[in-house]
Amino acid sequence: MKTKDWFTDWFNTPYYHVLYKDRNDEEALLFMKKITTFLALPKTTHILDLPCGKGRHAVFLNSLGYKVTGGDLSENSIKYAQKFKNDTLNFSVHDMRKPFNNQYNAVFNLFTSFGYFEDDKDDILILQNIKNGLKKDGVFVFDFLNAEFVKETLVAKETKIVDGITFNITRRIKDGFILKDISFFADDQNHAYTERVKYLDANKMKAYFEKVGFTITNIFGNYNLSNFDAQTSNRLILVAK
Ligand SMILES: C[S@@+](CC[C@H](N)C(=O)[O-])C[C@H]1O[C@@H](n2cnc3c(N)ncnc32)[C@H](O)[C@@H]1O
Repeated sequence: MKTKDWFTDWFNTPYYHVLYKDRNDEEALLFMKKITTFLALPKTTHILDLPCGKGRHAVFLNSLGYKVTGGDLSENSIKYAQKFKNDTLNFSVHDMRKPFNNQYNAVFNLFTSFGYFEDDKDDILILQNIKNGLKKDGVFVFDFLNAEFVKETLVAKETKIVDGITFNITRRIKDGFILKDISFFADDQNHAYTERVKYLDANKMKAYFEKVGFTITNIFGNYNLSNFDAQTSNRLILVAK
């Protein structure tokens, strides 16, 4: 049975992982290497990867020598990630709208894991929780889509066949949200989900960060850490203290 929140359902299905299995993991890991080098994070750093999904960034960061904790709302993803756990790598189910019990040297929010909620108050609450979850001089890395670039390059209709499943995808921007309707037939059933991410451009995100008392130290526009350009960058990556 579906819940009222699309993100609780869709990210917990196996189909989400099928649709995105061709995403560029290599690029994601290179980003982790670049950002940890750029930040000169010592190996004593304890990083919270939130939300971590199935743990792809967390496992890699741990292999670089960091202590890493991964949290995610999806029980299925956490169950999968837990296969990789060790003395310095842990995973647990966590809703980022809830405060943390621990404090970390760094919190990473990666791959558009924000803007899912209707009310701006929930966005602020998450940022506040992250801020409270950081130790003194801790660093926050926020990797989000560049809304302006998405608007300019929006592909309205697309069909993707992955693992024998035909995903029919339509995209639109409506009422301040970027919507992606995904319908497909699998396991003898028709399925339909809508990903819904708030249209948060760089200015709006900067205002959010200011509101919770974060100081932005860097703004990058892609995983190579090039400077951000609102028109051409495919990512909005904010580093804050
Ligand atoms: C786009 S995925 C990215 C996951 C991971 N960062 C990655 O790159 O593979 C977004 C993740 O956010 C998680 N999520 C959605 N709402 C959440 C919430 N309220 N608290 C914690 N995690 C949440 C989903 O379960 C999903 O794994």
